[in-house]
Amino acid sequence: MNPFRYGQVVSHRDFCSRPLLLQQLINFAESGQNVFLQGERRTGKTSLIFEAVRKLSGYKLLYIDLLEVKTIDDLCRRMITSIVRSERRISFQKKLLSALSHLRPSLSIDPITGFPTVSFDSRIGMKPDTIEGILDLIAELGAKKKLLVAFDEFQDVLNIRESSLALALLRSRIQFQSNITYFFAGSVRNKMNGIFTDPESPFFKSAASLEVGSIDSRTFMPFLRKKFASGKRRISTETVAAVIRMAGNIPGDVQELCACIWDATSAGESITKEHLAAGLNMIFARERKAYEATLINITGQQLRCLVALAKTDSIKTLSSEFLEKTGIHSPSSVQAALKRLVKLKIIYRHQGSYKLANPFFGSWLIWNGY
Ligand SMILES: Nc1ncnc2c1ncn2[C@@H]1O[C@H](COP(=O)(O)OP(=O)(O)O)[C@@H](O)[C@H]1O
Ligand SMILES: [Mg+2]
Repeated sequence: MNPFRYGQVVSHRDFCSRPLLLQQLINFAESGQNVFLQGERRTGKTSLIFEAVRKLSGYKLLYIDLLEVKTIDDLCRRMITSIVRSERRISFQKKLLSALSHLRPSLSIDPITGFPTVSFDSRIGMKPDTIEGILDLIAELGAKKKLLVAFDEFQDVLNIRESSLALALLRSRIQFQSNITYFFAGSVRNKMNGIFTDPESPFFKSAASLEVGSIDSRTFMPFLRKKFASGKRRISTETVAAVIRMAGNIPGDVQELCACIWDATSAGESITKEHLAAGLNMIFARERKAYEATLINITGQQLRCLVALAKTDSIKTLSSEFLEKTGIHSPSSVQAALKRLVKLKIIYRHQGSYKLANPFFGSWLIWNGY
């Protein structure tokens, strides 16, 4: 069986140890310090949270994923669902139903998953003050047990039209819940910074920051080599380093490429550069349609900027060297093109420069001679 995992939370043997980060997160939890975890997509934020909870003994986790949350109603439902799933005591469920009785809730067991689910009269939309009621329920849970609450993809709360009000309400309750630790994870840097470091934001300075980046190659390389070895495939340190580079040093992408290389090889083989190309081609075949759809949506100038970024390893954008690579003379046109590409989430800002959100897309552009 292919030993590489991607596109999902990894734990136990699939979690490559990152002791420093893990210990920091555990320390925050134990000292009741709220924290916001920042890092690009697929760097391992969610996995780190679950791993920290696994290591901490006696804590209960309330995990609330806010990916693509759009309305207050949606936000409340996700919070309630998480509470219902985490607390099966009948007495608490009764309390929950009575606290939210104005929403006409009904509790049932999902016949397929066996999970308790709560549904509400769909004609009654949840209002901002429902958030306060839900947070009071969380406080009650926290009074009984050591509780951790993790809001994942927290920046998406900004999608909500009344996001300022939602944030203010969340903050007003959370700040008094000193015995509950809150983790806020997010992958859109400027939005997370807006929430936690802008003096105008209700969450300003309300949580410590923890940066989740690439995995230290001194542990990641042996971890990956061991996985290859488990299927009698040999790979040199140098080749593993090349794999990590090709995947932009993003843990999820590294594992995806390794999974493809695994599929392109058999037991007893030594992995060569040719196998890396074969693995990469598998990814291209899988993603080609999406790449082509992206190309339809961008202009010629945007494409030139994208290709220049793919070919350069983070030279300062708007430097003369970069402009030369794009072949566009006007810095303001380049700036406008980059801004649009960020908006389309094809690239993101990174340490004063820009990077492709999907490193394989960059390789595909180069491969195809763009
Ligand atoms: N500690 C780790 N060890 C090995 N692979 C990891 C680790 N953390 C993340 N990954 C890889 O990244 C993928 C995405 O992890 P995830 O925790 O969902 O990231 P994020 O929440 O930052 O998007 C995983 O499926 C796995 O392939
Ligand atoms: Mg995540």
